[in-house]
Amino acid sequence: MSDERPIGVFDSGIGGITVLKALRATLPHENLVYLGDTARLPYGTKSAETVTAYATQATKHLLGHDVKMVVIACNTASAVALEPLKKALAPIPVIGVIEPGAKAGTKATKTGRIGVIATEATVKGGAYMRAIQAAMPGAEVTQAPCGLFVTLAEEGWVKGDVAEAAARRYLAPLFKGRNAPDTLVLGCTHFPVLARTIAKVVGKQVKLVDSAATTAKAVTEALAERGLAAKRKARGKTRFLATDSTERFARVGGIFFGEEIRARDVELVDIMPG
Ligand code: DGL
Repeated sequence: MSDERPIGVFDSGIGGITVLKALRATLPHENLVYLGDTARLPYGTKSAETVTAYATQATKHLLGHDVKMVVIACNTASAVALEPLKKALAPIPVIGVIEPGAKAGTKATKTGRIGVIATEATVKGGAYMRAIQAAMPGAEVTQAPCGLFVTLAEEGWVKGDVAEAAARRYLAPLFKGRNAPDTLVLGCTHFPVLARTIAKVVGKQVKLVDSAATTAKAVTEALAERGLAAKRKARGKTRFLATDSTERFARVGGIFFGEEIRARDVELVDIMPG
């Protein structure tokens, strides 16, 4: 069995492109449609109700592109809205990034002490705590919200004085003392582009993990289980949709994608109801 329909990938902005990149590498023959709700970013400072409403509208828009599966490449939306999104999109399967991120953390740790950095909404909801404890009962999880990292990443300020000062301010409390975590989960899809700066601040001994590779693995398995994998020989296409400035999406999105995105290849879409 094979299914040539595209996989929908959704994030509040361009951060989810870190997951898209992993999907592109792992599943070269799949067509991918990426939607960034850039008009309403950030999600991480908003209530669970608002995030759920926005994410439902955005992912339903992807159904209009005849997607066979939806990947919620946003930790905030995965943390607070995965179950409502699964219901809203049924029977289309929906995969979030929290469980894959938690698994990456539990696989990497030697001491069982895991730090998680994420947006305020993700930290507040406690989804990472629960997912890590489920995968590794007894794990010691410490969390810190790092909302400014989202702005720095969207601004393209991923290294230098400002990024380092923010990283020190956020991360120093998490890493002081003898019981500091040996692993840090980058629990926001915007954070991997800041990895070098974060590593400089926390030290080389701390393993940095994110959910991109483990999510790509989860998607590959889910496609195989359901007989949904594409069988085409040619490379799959990647299509970009954004709810605000296509020029900005292309410019900053290219940093996340690791290759040029042309503004004319980004489609402006209106996903608001009514
Ligand atoms: N990329 C989103 C996440 O993974 C956060 C960005 C935002 O606050 O919208 O949590």
